[in-house]
Order: sequence, then C-alpha cells, then structure tokens
Amino acid sequence: MKKTIAVLFVFSFLILGWQSCNQTDSQKKETATTPVITKEAKACTPIKDPNNPKPMALMMRMMAANADSMRSQLLRGETLDSTNYPFIKFYLVEPTDPNVLEPQFFENARLFQQAYKNLFAKPKDQIKRYNLLINSCIKCHESYCSGPLKRIRKFPIE
Ligand code: HEC
Repeated sequence: MKKTIAVLFVFSFLILGWQSCNQTDSQKKETATTPVITKEAKACTPIKDPNNPKPMALMMRMMAANADSMRSQLLRGETLDSTNYPFIKFYLVEPTDPNVLEPQFFENARLFQQAYKNLFAKPKDQIKRYNLLINSCIKCHESYCSGPLKRIRKFPIE
C-alpha cells in the first residue's frame, strides 16, 4: 500500500514536471514570435490582444472618444470647457511597442500638449484650434502609429 502511494506521488510529480515543461515550450514559442508582433504593433493593427491593451492604448481610446465629443459640442455651437476635458498624460505610460519612446515621439507629445492648451486658452476660434489639435494627433500618428489615421482624419471640422 505504502509503495503504491509512493509510486503515485512520483508519478504526479512527473506529470507536473511534464506540464511545466510544456509551459516553457509555449512561452519560448511566444518569445520567438515577439519581433513580428512588435512590428505589427507599431502599425497598430492588428493589436496582439485587443482585450488586454497597454495603458497608452487605453488612454488613446479615451482621447479619441474625447475628440469625438468635442467635435459634436463644437458642431452644436457650444463652447468647450477644459474641466470636461482634462489633459491625459499618455506619454508617461507604457505603450504596446516601447520602441516608440524616442525623442521625436516626446517632441510630438509636447506640440500636442501645446495645441491642447491653445484650444482652451480663449473661448474664441475654438473650431480652428480644435482642428489644429487634431492635426497634431495626425502628425504623431504619421510617424508612430498609422493604424488609426483613417479614423482620426475624419475628426477635423470642415
Ligand atoms: C505623440 C504621439 C501621439 C499623439 C499626439 C497622439 N497619438 Fe494616438 N497613438 C500614439 C501611439 C504611439 C499609439 C499606440 C499606443 C499603444 O498601442 O500602446 C496610439 C494609439 C492610438 C489609437 C489606437 C488605440 C487602440 O485602441 O489601440 C487611437 C484611436 C489614437 N491613438 C487616437 C489619437 C487621437 C484622436 C489623438 C489626438 C487627440 C492622438 N491619438 C494623439 C501616438 C500618438
């Protein structure tokens, strides 16, 4: 009886060992394909796992939703209030592709933040300044993430 238990014990270890080996194998596979995934991420489509986005991708979704809502407000003739649209510091959080974090990206982020401040500086000419803000989204996206460009190019107000 004791022998059987001992055998079962060893056997279960063998199974566990085999399972963890399998895990490492699939992990290895994942690392092997990482360069391909990174390339795709730079173009932003398709995203490796759309249900598990990186913080920067999440913030970008909020920024796009905000731009959409700013556009509707301006088209209704309303004035945008900065308290409804706090600036989102997307450049401080983790992106899908860490290679984007280079000087030109941060310079684009700086110009974007400047355009953001200008939008709320005076209630006058907000449509014009909103369009300039969207231009600075486009400018960064032309270099770093061309996937959403088609969508962003619909944001400007004619
Ligand atoms: C300084 C560069 C920069 C600026 C400015 C910028 N973006 Fe982005 N955007 C990125 C990068 C980089 C990503 C990829 C983020 C990631 O996957 O982690 C991204 C991703 C996105 C996405 C896709 C998010 C997803 O679901 O994966 C949308 C939509 C987007 N941006 C819209 C906008 C809009 C709208 C603006 C302007 C209001 C804007 N972006 C301004 C660099 C920028």
